[in-house]
Amino acid sequence: MCGRALPGPLMSKLPSLVPEPLSFDIGNEHDRFWCAAEGRRYASVIGFDAKAQGEVAICIAELVSNVAKFAGRGTLALSTVTEPRLGMRIVVEDAGPGIDNPASVFEDGFSEGRRLEPGTQRRSGQGLGVGLGAVARMMSHVEMENAPGRGLRVVCIKWLDPPRGGSGAFPASGPSSAR
Ligand SMILES: Nc1ncnc2c1ncn2[C@@H]1O[C@H](COP(=O)(O)OP(=O)(O)OP(=O)(O)O)[C@@H](O)[C@H]1O
Ligand SMILES: [Mg+2]
Repeated sequence: MCGRALPGPLMSKLPSLVPEPLSFDIGNEHDRFWCAAEGRRYASVIGFDAKAQGEVAICIAELVSNVAKFAGRGTLALSTVTEPRLGMRIVVEDAGPGIDNPASVFEDGFSEGRRLEPGTQRRSGQGLGVGLGAVARMMSHVEMENAPGRGLRVVCIKWLDPPRGGSGAFPASGPSSAR
């Protein structure tokens, strides 16, 4: 994995180089394994500890599994955020059916497009069982862009060193909202 040196004041805090952006095609359920491994490796280069690397791997596996399951194919893109601080961006996109009610799918116990009542048999058993709810908890930020007819775009950011009591903001929100 190639890398470049960080600009400005971040340089002195950095344990390593900033890895170049990477992108991968997703074509089936099994791709989640190597995509997760790529994500873990990318996170380690940025400087995430073993626990955070594991969280990155789990989230990527979940999102890639969703793409394969609900859209058939899509892409995974990994990049480094350097402003307002160091983090990792994960973007998973597809051209599938999208989601009718994006807010509901972050709830635990929502699977296969419906709420699971206690004792409900799950059909695939391929995910984590808590799906996007777990992704939301393990990432600092998750945004879902749902374009009917154009599929789903999920953007996640994980800050390297999140501040106590909350998550950071997307760079697009401007430095004033960054905690
Ligand atoms: N890429 C996607 N395209 C269309 N719908 C999606 C996509 N990803 C998730 N969904 C919808 O959001 C719901 C919640 O996703 P989530 O990953 O939490 O659960 P799941 O994949 O159904 O089950 P699990 O991951 O627990 O095995 C899904 O049931 C599906 O309806
Ligand atoms: Mg899932």
